[in-house]
Amino acid sequence: TTVALLFGGRSGEHGISCVTAGGILSAIDRDRFDVVAIGITREGGWVHVSDDPSDWTLVDGRAPEVAPEGPEVLLPATRHRPGTRSMLRQVVDGVVSPLAEIDVVFPLLHGAYGEDGTVQGMLEMLDIPYVGSGVLASAGCMDKAAAKQLLGAADIASAPGIVVHEDRWAEGADEVMAHLERHHPLPWFVKPARAGSSLGVSRVDDPAQLEHAMKGAFAEDPKVLIEEMVAGREVECGVLQGVDTYEVRTTVPGEVRIGEDLDFYDYEAKYFGKGTVCIDVPAGLPDAVLEEVREVASRAFTVLGLEGLARVDVFVTEDQRVLVNEVNTMPGFTPYSMFPVLWENMGLSYADLLAGLIEQARG
Ligand code: DAL
Ligand code: MG
Repeated sequence: TTVALLFGGRSGEHGISCVTAGGILSAIDRDRFDVVAIGITREGGWVHVSDDPSDWTLVDGRAPEVAPEGPEVLLPATRHRPGTRSMLRQVVDGVVSPLAEIDVVFPLLHGAYGEDGTVQGMLEMLDIPYVGSGVLASAGCMDKAAAKQLLGAADIASAPGIVVHEDRWAEGADEVMAHLERHHPLPWFVKPARAGSSLGVSRVDDPAQLEHAMKGAFAEDPKVLIEEMVAGREVECGVLQGVDTYEVRTTVPGEVRIGEDLDFYDYEAKYFGKGTVCIDVPAGLPDAVLEEVREVASRAFTVLGLEGLARVDVFVTEDQRVLVNEVNTMPGFTPYSMFPVLWENMGLSYADLLAGLIEQARG
C-alpha cells in the first residue's frame, strides 16, 4: 500500500501540520506501507519533500516549514494564475499522473485548505481514497459557527454567543457591544470561526479589550465568534470509526489543566511550552461524567456526519453539564498529542492507530 502524507498547507497551522507529519513519518510501519511525503507550501504549491522525520521536528522552539517550490513540483501554486482551465491542465499534467500511483492520501492538514473540505473535495474529484471525514463534515467542523448550529439542532449544547462578520463590526461595533453587554456576561472568548490551535483567539475580561481582540480574530477570518466563557474543566475525547463495522468508538477522555500563569490554553501553551500545562489521561472526573462525555462525543460524531477519526473537545461545568467546545476532524497527531495518547491509554499503539486509519480509508 502506498500512502501519501500530505502536510504543511496554506493555513496558520502550517508548522503544526509539519510536526504532525514528522511524528507519523517516525512511527509508520515502512515494511507495510510505502510512504510518499508531499508538502504543501504556504502559497499552495505541492512539492515532493523529504520523508526523514528529523527534517520535520521542532528545533529551538521553531516549527518546520515546507520550503517554497523547489524542483519537484507536483502542483504549482495557482494564486497568481487564476482560471479554471489552467488549473485543470495543471491537475491533469501535474497531479493525476504522480498521484495515480497512490492508494491512500493521509491529509495531515490542519485549518483552512486542508481540514475544511477543500482538499477532501479535490481528492473526491480525483477518485483517490483518503483518511478521515468527507467534504461536508470537514467543512461543517472547520467553521465553529456552523458546527454549533448543527450540534444545537441535535440538542448538543455549546457555549452561548454570537457571530460577527467583519463588515458588520466596521459598521456597528457599538451595537454589537451593547447587545453583548445586555445578553452575555463577561468574560468573553473571541475566536475566528475557521481557524485552529487557538490562533487569533483571545479572552476578554473588560469590554475595552474587545476592539483589540476582534482585530486579532479578523486577521485569521472575517467571520468571528464571541462566546461566553464556560467556567469548567477542559476535557477531550478521541473518536474512531470501526474498520469493518462503522461502529463509533470513543476513548476514556483526557483533561487539559492549565496553571494560574495562563489565561487559557493558547497557541504558545499548546506547542511552545508557555506556562503550566498538565495533560491527565484519564481525566480526573467521576465515572458517570466520563461516560457522559463519551456519549456526547459519539453523538456529535454521528450528528456531524464524521468519518474515520475526530477529537471532540468539551467543557464540563461545575454542575457537570457537558458543552462541546469544538470538534477537530484532523487532530494534532504527534506521538505526544492528546489524540494518540488517548488511544494508547485504550491499548491501541500509535503505529496500529495509523495502520487502522489507512486500511479503513483504503476500504
Ligand atoms: N487544531 C489542532 C491541531 C488540534 O486541535 O489538535
Ligand atoms: Mg482545535
